[in-house]
Amino acid sequence: MRIRLIVTAMFLGVTVCGVALAVPSGKTLTFSESPMGKVYFDGQVHKDAGVKCMECHNDGMFPKMKQGTVKVTMEDIYAGRLCGVCHNGQRAFAAVGNCGRCHIRD
Ligand code: HEC
Ligand code: HEC
Ligand code: HEC
Repeated sequence: MRIRLIVTAMFLGVTVCGVALAVPSGKTLTFSESPMGKVYFDGQVHKDAGVKCMECHNDGMFPKMKQGTVKVTMEDIYAGRLCGVCHNGQRAFAAVGNCGRCHIRD
């Protein structure tokens, strides 16, 4: 029983620290499924650009603070959804003509 408590406490500790470290303002998420090259999503770049967490972490966009829960497609982006809510040439650079600002071949 006591051991189980200790293990639980350790697990919670790791989880809490894990979340703290995973905050994308200081972190880069890698999307590696596109044949166009990987996309590095830099939380710091977005924070520095003045974008607030809830502008992305809301029901219509990326509800979960967890990678891999929403599938991003170019169809969505071109249609002004997901990354395309901003990457439309208004708030941030448009997708069309700027493939290489998101997709890096390395
Ligand atoms: C410009 C959009 C955007 C902003 C702003 C943003 N995030 Fe995220 N965040 C994402 C995306 C996209 C994911 C991946 C979601 C998915 O794949 O379902 C993510 C994932 C996460 C994750 C999980 C990381 C992992 O390794 O699984 C955490 C934690 C998180 N965000 C916290 C935050 C916090 C805290 C803020 C504000 C400081 C923030 N995010 C601001 C887009 C954003
Ligand atoms: C809420 C608005 C918003 C959303 C949503 C958003 N971005 Fe951004 N993004 C910005 C702003 C603002 C900048 C900085 C200004 C600029 O470069 O046009 C930026 C910059 C970037 C850059 C830096 C490019 C460079 O050349 O420096 C990349 C890469 C990027 N975003 C990828 C993404 C990806 C991938 C997603 C979706 C997972 C996403 N963004 C969602 C607003 C957003
Ligand atoms: C704002 C960032 C951004 C820009 C600009 C961008 N993409 Fe993407 N693209 C993504 C993200 C994020 C994914 C999802 C990758 C993954 O899930 O691993 C993606 C996926 C893709 C895919 C595979 C999935 C699909 O929907 O077909 C292709 C092909 C692709 N991009 C081509 C392009 C081309 C061509 C351009 C320029 C006209 C472009 N992308 C510009 C962010 C971007």
